[in-house]
Amino acid sequence: MAIHNQLKLLLTAGSLFAATFAYAVVQQPLREDDPEDDDTPLPVVIWHGLGDNYAAEGLREVGELVDAINPGTLVYYIRMADSASSDRSATFFGNVTEQVAKACEDIASHPILSTAPAIDAIGFSQGGQFLRGYVERCNNPPVRSLITFGSQHNGITAFRDCPTSDWVCRAAMALLKGNAWSSVVQSRLVPAQYYRDPAQYEQYLEYSNFLADINNERVLKNQQYKKNIMKLENLVLYMFEEDTTVVPKETAWFEEVNGTEITPLRARKLYSEDWLGLRELDRKGGLKFRTAPGEHMQLQEALLNDTFAEFFGPLKLNKKKAGAGQPANLWSGDL
Ligand SMILES: *[C@@H]1O[C@H](CO)[C@@H](O)[C@H](O)[C@H]1NC(C)=O
Ligand SMILES: *[C@@H]1O[C@H](CO)[C@@H](O)[C@H](O)[C@H]1NC(C)=O
Ligand SMILES: *[C@@H]1O[C@H](CO)[C@@H](O)[C@H](O)[C@H]1NC(C)=O
Repeated sequence: MAIHNQLKLLLTAGSLFAATFAYAVVQQPLREDDPEDDDTPLPVVIWHGLGDNYAAEGLREVGELVDAINPGTLVYYIRMADSASSDRSATFFGNVTEQVAKACEDIASHPILSTAPAIDAIGFSQGGQFLRGYVERCNNPPVRSLITFGSQHNGITAFRDCPTSDWVCRAAMALLKGNAWSSVVQSRLVPAQYYRDPAQYEQYLEYSNFLADINNERVLKNQQYKKNIMKLENLVLYMFEEDTTVVPKETAWFEEVNGTEITPLRARKLYSEDWLGLRELDRKGGLKFRTAPGEHMQLQEALLNDTFAEFFGPLKLNKKKAGAGQPANLWSGDL
């Protein structure tokens, strides 16, 4: 949820747009008779964070790195609108349920993504929990590895101030001066839909338009959400060590912070009763808690390189890396 800090990348600038759009042309069809024998890297979808847009240079640089590490990777940038400024506004305003549904439709109807046996995904900040929403609600094509950086998986307890020059952000935050639980705010203001204050847990359960649902915190649990999370091969949760933008920063690891008390995911009911399939995923070695040095979204190129090398690439190569224990028919489930 960086507003001023979004994607402060420690990368060198470059002209990257042309190459990114050229992938679609050079990409080989992914679905062959046996996708297990295909050397083509799985496509990677990226969902950016609050205050950013899909065409931003920093985001494109990340896409370039993905392709540099696994040449020939199709990189798709999730967007809510074709214009960069409208896409940016949609990070503040909109109904997240509808936004996730749009991402689902766009991915499922994309000429290349829709033919892939699986995709990999990177979620920056709020884009991380939205991509988890994609996995739980749609997962067509299914995600193999979901990597989230500084995401608010267990919500936020405070909203960040905006820079004075950012009127879109200020207009959004002005709405919050009212009641965060009102249906006007919950249907229109994006950060409110992952606002989760343990001191107001009852209101959260009743009114949260997004997070309480995708975290399966209500009495009726959605079994499909759990099944879909269990289909992931990896869920990699990066927390920024010095994050002061996201409150609390431990939300990146699904930790519960109530006042000064921090409860790790493995000590929570969400895990012990396995509302989301996270315990099951953990048992097969797929749940990874990682830290990244620095403030929110201060991404370091070496860390990105290592992460992409570890979790992305062709279906079969990655399986070798992942070692034994993965079902051979991982992608033959309900696609
Ligand atoms: C958000 O959109 C969904 C789907 O259109 C709708 O069912 C839901 O009521 C909306 N949320 C609010 C708080 O209006
Ligand atoms: C958080 O702490 C408050 C105050 O101590 C307490 O009333 C509330 O029940 C706690 N919430 C949760 C979800 O543990
Ligand atoms: C990251 O990988 C790219 C592509 O291989 C390489 O050019 C770059 O030097 C790497 N960066 C670091 C910091 O290792």
